Amino acid sequence: MSPLLRAEAVSELERAVGADVAELAAPVDWYHTQELIAGVETPGMFDLRPLVDRYGIPEDLSGLRVLEIGTFEGFWAFELERRGADVTALDIDQLQHLDWPPRARPPEDGIRGDGFRLVKELRKSNVRRVGISVYDATRERIGETYDLVFCGMVLIHLRDPMLALERMAALCHGRLILCEEYSRRLDLIPGGGGAEFRGCSPWMTWWRPNRRTWLQMVEVAGFENPREIDRFKAPFTSGKSGVRSVVIHADHPASGLFERHR
Ligand SMILES: C[S@@+](CC[C@H](N)C(=O)[O-])C[C@H]1O[C@@H](n2cnc3c(N)ncnc32)[C@H](O)[C@@H]1O
Repeated sequence: MSPLLRAEAVSELERAVGADVAELAAPVDWYHTQELIAGVETPGMFDLRPLVDRYGIPEDLSGLRVLEIGTFEGFWAFELERRGADVTALDIDQLQHLDWPPRARPPEDGIRGDGFRLVKELRKSNVRRVGISVYDATRERIGETYDLVFCGMVLIHLRDPMLALERMAALCHGRLILCEEYSRRLDLIPGGGGAEFRGCSPWMTWWRPNRRTWLQMVEVAGFENPREIDRFKAPFTSGKSGVRSVVIHADHPASGLFERHR
């Protein structure tokens, strides 16, 4: 299946909201399936809508400030906003800023965030998008801390997931919700931890830790009481298999810890 909008969907969009928007939507390579307007959905690589309840997100987030890391086209940011949160969504602005394994790095660059901007516009959303890498998301750069930090499927794509987790811990005074791919193979070793090195995979992933190791990583980064909430296989919309995913929650770090480690 192509991740681009089909011609009929572009025409539908053009009829509903005008040619400009349709032109903007047509070239976007969609990751998330979400509704652009009634009857027009993006042909994402993943349709996470049936899995939303598995993440354990509180239904009412009104009055809370939420940071979403690695928003792509904003599926989770808009869901968190729908629940009443004041949402900041963070992602990189350029293709070259992804943590490519050197051999996989494409020669060209490209702008990221067009899909997000388009969906935001169509939804009349107030989510703010901050275009920086999570590595650079220090308390000084971001300027505030959040009641909830939400991060889905980002750490497996990073060479240094521990630094990213440490950044998140410093920005969180409430709860972390993390969802990542896990290694079922390494889970089979009783009591064992570890991570598969995935730098050679075609998916631009670096690591696939098992569930026990994800929990340890979250704790070592400074969060407290990391716990598994659920696990499932997120299917590709193409129909071929899926990604084994674990949802982890953890609580705000002990006060003072980050001042010492910054
Ligand atoms: C696999 S997608 C996950 C999208 C979404 N978070 C979800 O759970 O469905 C990974 C996202 O992380 C972003 N990302 C990758 N490296 C990043 C970095 N260093 N800082 C911030 N975002 C990053 C990518 O641009 C992409 O939007």
